[in-house]
Amino acid sequence: MKILIINGPNLNMLGIREPGIYGRETYEDLCRYLREQAETLGVEAEIFQSNSEGDIVTKIQQALGSADAIVINPAAYTHTSVAILDALKAVALPAAEVHLSDVTKREAFRQISYAGMACKFHFIGMGFEGYGEAMKALVKDGK
Ligand code: DQA
Repeated sequence: MKILIINGPNLNMLGIREPGIYGRETYEDLCRYLREQAETLGVEAEIFQSNSEGDIVTKIQQALGSADAIVINPAAYTHTSVAILDALKAVALPAAEVHLSDVTKREAFRQISYAGMACKFHFIGMGFEGYGEAMKALVKDGK
């Protein structure tokens, strides 16, 4: 099984950006955690990060025929991007939405998740562990 893991804008700034919200661990730490989880679960993981909406849409489209499932933290695009929602619907692969912080307890503009509407699973406010849980849920779902 191959899982494509997509991280949206500013997640490459983890460890630097708003540590009170996102913690001190870096994006490299997150990638290491994701690789460890993939190994433990016995799956292949492709890790992708982009600050640009179009690149994320293209990556989702390319997942068709090359990945079995998608874990996505669309970051700020969560709350704005119908294009990412449409891309997830277009490929119709099982997908899990992840947010490091608990967006449900944050600003009003973070209360809508477009991408989440195309996701089977949601792990919100669990930090890095949310990604691990998302991968586990997709592996179980694929059996
Ligand atoms: C985030 C939450 C989003 O609202 C925010 O724009 C992010 C990160 C999270 O992981 O908590 O960049 O997706």
